[in-house]
Amino acid sequence: MSARKKLVAGNWKMHGSRAANAELLGGILQAGPFGADVAVCVPAPYLGEVGITLAGSAVAWGAQDCSAHEQGAYTGDVSVSMLSEFGCRYVIVGHSERRAYHGETDQQVADKAKIALGKGITPIVCVGETLAQREAGQTEEVVKRQLSVVIHTLGQCIGEIVVAYEPVWAIGTGKTASPEQAQEVHALLRAQLRAASQRADGMRLLYGGSVKPDNAATLFGQPDIDGGLIGGAALKAADFVAVCRAAG
Ligand code: PGA
Repeated sequence: MSARKKLVAGNWKMHGSRAANAELLGGILQAGPFGADVAVCVPAPYLGEVGITLAGSAVAWGAQDCSAHEQGAYTGDVSVSMLSEFGCRYVIVGHSERRAYHGETDQQVADKAKIALGKGITPIVCVGETLAQREAGQTEEVVKRQLSVVIHTLGQCIGEIVVAYEPVWAIGTGKTASPEQAQEVHALLRAQLRAASQRADGMRLLYGGSVKPDNAATLFGQPDIDGGLIGGAALKAADFVAVCRAAG
């Protein structure tokens, strides 16, 4: 098995202000460098300014969504060409909040991943089951279906993405999947990726859902968990730094 460098990505969601961002980034930069790769995925209006603040540092920046289209009459949407102009390294696609509140389908998510890769931006593709699906014993079926559409759409390029397993019931709820529960799903996803790509063992599979300084190390210690996608704990420098340090 190849050694995988861990990745910790902050997902700021719709939080922040110019002043709060400056303070948060200042705290992260002061604490680094880290043993893991670190990124922040910020609201689109702040990308330019965050990019300037982080330029030349070891902290990468990314977006939280992108359009599946190159350009055109898509009011309110942001294209991957625009993101790449700001030096974006990552874009989160298929976050459960986008699937739930914007009706994004598995195919749209896969199309977004594909267009991002075409611009050299690494998509962080989110998959995860709801509480009802977990209780109905459908976790494996749901996450495999979500990932299979991405595998089918990307073909051999699947090896270039980052996958984030985010059980919907654990996001923002304070209920973390146990390290064993998370590892079990990560192992399933890794096996599915192995069947599709020889690069599966080098791919990073992140866990997301109420990762905090006090549970990060145990989660990141699981064999198939290669870092985290961090929401609430990414908004305070001390918390985010602690999570980054837990990753190595
Ligand atoms: P949380 O969010 O860490 O606040 O649970 C994670 C996410 O939604 O990416």
